[in-house]
Amino acid sequence: MKAVSIFSGNRSCQRIFPALAVSLFFLVAPGHAGGDERIVVKLPRKDRELMQKDMIRFMEQKYALIDALASGDMNRVKKVAGQAKPPLARIRALASGKPLPPEGRLAQIKDDEALFLRMRKNLPPPFLNMLLGMRETWAKIETDASRNGKQEQIMRHLARLQGFCISCHKLYRNETAAAP
Ligand code: HEC
Repeated sequence: MKAVSIFSGNRSCQRIFPALAVSLFFLVAPGHAGGDERIVVKLPRKDRELMQKDMIRFMEQKYALIDALASGDMNRVKKVAGQAKPPLARIRALASGKPLPPEGRLAQIKDDEALFLRMRKNLPPPFLNMLLGMRETWAKIETDASRNGKQEQIMRHLARLQGFCISCHKLYRNETAAAP
């Protein structure tokens, strides 16, 4: 009996796979040749851990939105977007250099204002702008979902949301700053 493999299925596959492998190599290779060239952002250990937790939450929220959209359940889309509604006031103030407004405070964080000021000092402006763009996109999803917006429109927001994740991850990486 002939062994079945995705690489030996038919002749067009035999031509396509090497071509694909070569193009992928050229796409990926330049980045690897120069090592990791992303900009390093140094954060104190606790702040970095907090950001990592936020990131996992971003991923969970994005998954929940995709899942709800894929099943065409617009009520669930509404609910997910409502739950993921960001503290826009905080990130707007952070990105624009304004003081932390009362509605942007995070009650669950001890010494919240000190954290806000450290983040402003440590995160470069383009980083903050991408975070702001991401959060504004979540806000749009929430508004559209609560106004019974079309599924396609919300999917376009979702693509834009994912664009912010990608752009920032390609540009930056974090390191833990040495303790002062
Ligand atoms: C403004 C920049 C920025 C944006 C926007 C951003 N990230 Fe991140 N993300 C980072 C950085 C920097 C790290 C590395 C964190 C570290 O190593 O301390 C990271 C790490 C992560 C991690 C790994 C967390 C861990 O356990 O170490 C996940 C998962 C992640 N991001 C998901 C997302 C998703 C999903 C989105 C979009 C919805 C997103 N991120 C948007 C900057 C960003």
